[in-house]
Amino acid sequence: MSLTLIRNGTVVTAVEKMQADVLIDGGKVVALLGREHTVVAENEIDAEGKLVIPGGIDVHTHMELPFGGTFAADTFETGTRAAAFGGTTTIIDFAVQTKGQSAMDGWEAWMEKARGNCAIDYGFHMITGDINDQTLKEMEQLMREGVTSFKMFMAYPGVFYSDDGQIVRAMQKAAEDGATICMHAENGIAIDVFVQQALERGETDPLYHGIVRKSILEGEAAHRAIKLAEVTGAQLYIVHLSAKEALDEVIRARDEGLRVYAETCPQYLFLSLDDLGNGFEGAKYVCSPPLRDRAAGHQDRLWRGLRTNDLQVVSTDHCPFCMGDHPRFGTQKQLGQGDFSKIPNGMPGVENRMELIYSGGVAEGRIDANRFVEITATTPARMFGLYPRKGTIAVGADADIVILDTKATHVITAETHHMDVDYSAYEGWELSCMVETVLSKGKVIISDGTYHGNPGDGEYLPRGLSQYHN
Ligand code: URP
Ligand code: ZN
Ligand code: ZN
Repeated sequence: MSLTLIRNGTVVTAVEKMQADVLIDGGKVVALLGREHTVVAENEIDAEGKLVIPGGIDVHTHMELPFGGTFAADTFETGTRAAAFGGTTTIIDFAVQTKGQSAMDGWEAWMEKARGNCAIDYGFHMITGDINDQTLKEMEQLMREGVTSFKMFMAYPGVFYSDDGQIVRAMQKAAEDGATICMHAENGIAIDVFVQQALERGETDPLYHGIVRKSILEGEAAHRAIKLAEVTGAQLYIVHLSAKEALDEVIRARDEGLRVYAETCPQYLFLSLDDLGNGFEGAKYVCSPPLRDRAAGHQDRLWRGLRTNDLQVVSTDHCPFCMGDHPRFGTQKQLGQGDFSKIPNGMPGVENRMELIYSGGVAEGRIDANRFVEITATTPARMFGLYPRKGTIAVGADADIVILDTKATHVITAETHHMDVDYSAYEGWELSCMVETVLSKGKVIISDGTYHGNPGDGEYLPRGLSQYHN
């Protein structure tokens, strides 16, 4: 591969901001040069006035997830290409073990879906939907394949749900092997009672999805997950944290020195229960945990948590379902007409995360540019065993690089986005930055609003153990 040089930009990592040129060879960063050098390269990219940042790492996506009788609309091909457009160069998706299935078979099925289709590099967590003796053995096997984190659900009884006994057994195994348990912390058994009662009262609109899934039940589940992690010694990472009650539990655990971490997602930082109103339009915003009441202060607490490192990561939980029929998967959100509990849970967002967090975070003065890089790329890499190959701009790292124009503005709309879904949760929002150029392993895959890569450029990333112990 020929030499590439990114000139004149401001390189931002989690800890530095430097006037430096980035020299790339063989897909890797080979030098960070002061401006006074004499190096020339076959491919030169001018980043004058722009930020040069590590490619984003989205550690929570669901391409083609089977859910509620349909499948998340993005395939690995469409979803990873959309991610690239938005400045994300690595995803960690969730392979699924369903009840009665072997976990290895589940992982292999997801490897097959992804193989040869991805625009960017990818890894997998494993959803362990059926903890039993065989699954516990398979966790070890999966770790040898680079799957070092396992997602469990305290929500969705009868689907992905695990009871406390299963959680304890998986946590014991994770503690033994050094794996991370990712937890969907909502008390699904209690929530289902409130769901039934609401439906019996004729409360069938999407809004009630947000009302019955009470924030206190996220707090309760987070507390229980933390105690189970404490008693077993497992590392715990709470996914898609939305509620201040859950954040309080994480803060308490971290103050006690436990290895407890958490992510939140743009939808919880920017959207609210209000978006679930407006009749069936609210179905666009049905995800779990649900969007929260802004007036109750959840959003402010999440932003503060990101500033203070009580929250370590922003991921998307990208899990799109169309409002109209999907050409391949048929009826999606409409499955829940007349019964909010049948609306497939999930929202699109893999393309929007980097620009949203820069705009709402850095441009609005809530976090600085270093922290932006840390929560969108560096900590995700460290948390899930990809650092320093991914998540930073340093000699020896993969040249996964984004040139971000922080003076350009643009408007989000489903008419121009690249996700295979017929709406945007942020339709009409003006962003105060724009991903201009994206390199994956040294190759320009996005420039001038055009994709230059090929499905299959993205490679499977076997991951190591978590490197994050802050
Ligand atoms: O609503 C959501 N979050 N859908 C995806 C599945 C999950 O729980 O992460
Ligand atoms: Zn979840
Ligand atoms: Zn998810």
